Amino acid sequence: MEKIVILTGAGISAESGLGTFRDAGGLWAQHRIEDVATPEGFARDPALVQAFYNARRAKAATARPNAAHVALARLQADWPGEVVIVTQNVDELHEKAGARGVLHMHGILSGALCAACGHRWPAPAEMRVGEPCPACHAPSARPDIVWFGEMPYYMDEIFEHLMGADLFAAIGTSGQVYPAAGFVQEATAAGARTVELNLEPSATVSRFDETRFGPATQTVPEWVAELLAG
Ligand code: OAD
Repeated sequence: MEKIVILTGAGISAESGLGTFRDAGGLWAQHRIEDVATPEGFARDPALVQAFYNARRAKAATARPNAAHVALARLQADWPGEVVIVTQNVDELHEKAGARGVLHMHGILSGALCAACGHRWPAPAEMRVGEPCPACHAPSARPDIVWFGEMPYYMDEIFEHLMGADLFAAIGTSGQVYPAAGFVQEATAAGARTVELNLEPSATVSRFDETRFGPATQTVPEWVAELLAG
């Protein structure tokens, strides 16, 4: 049976009301990456960083999955082979739609991480500066989010899945952030067919065998229906 590996980015959650990073008016137009998405930024101004993720956590908590998340969960349930979802998103809309085993390579807003000992626990709605780690008691709580300059999570597992993929799809991602932007090449090297579903061509569009442009709530359910129809 064919194995499908799917990479998702901020574009799949855009129609659920969560902003993307690099579209006009996106998060990186309003905030400097160096300030809110690097370990150095956190060391400089932890209050600013906690406030940024507290606001995003609150927004994600009330967001609802859209037709694209629902379609991927349906594909996972109904496809006779394996469907692996890898996401760069720190929301949990895939899970809210019923998807399982989602690999959050950039971490998760609902998680807290101890910068001192690496212990992980569920984040409170509002994370305060200097909140103590429940394991080592250092005042080092930070959001469990992968920042620039840090290693994304689950990389070995993800590469193993890519090596075994028959079909690879990238959905709602600009192809500007590595290593995720390089997955299409890994999948191609492994012999997989590749498809990009995005609002507009990404930075890596030329590397895909097939492209489908439009809002995810339209393109993804159509693509899934075609796959399941055989
Ligand atoms: P970007 O904001 O870079 O790209 C979002 C992509 O989604 C763009 O190519 C848009 O054209 C597309 N898009 C927007 N609305 C869409 C819609 N309704 N349907 C389909 N596509 C749509 O977001 P990512 O590629 O996810 O990392 O960004 C990658 C990483 O950069 C993020 O995980 C984050 C960020 O810095 C970290 O914070 C570590």
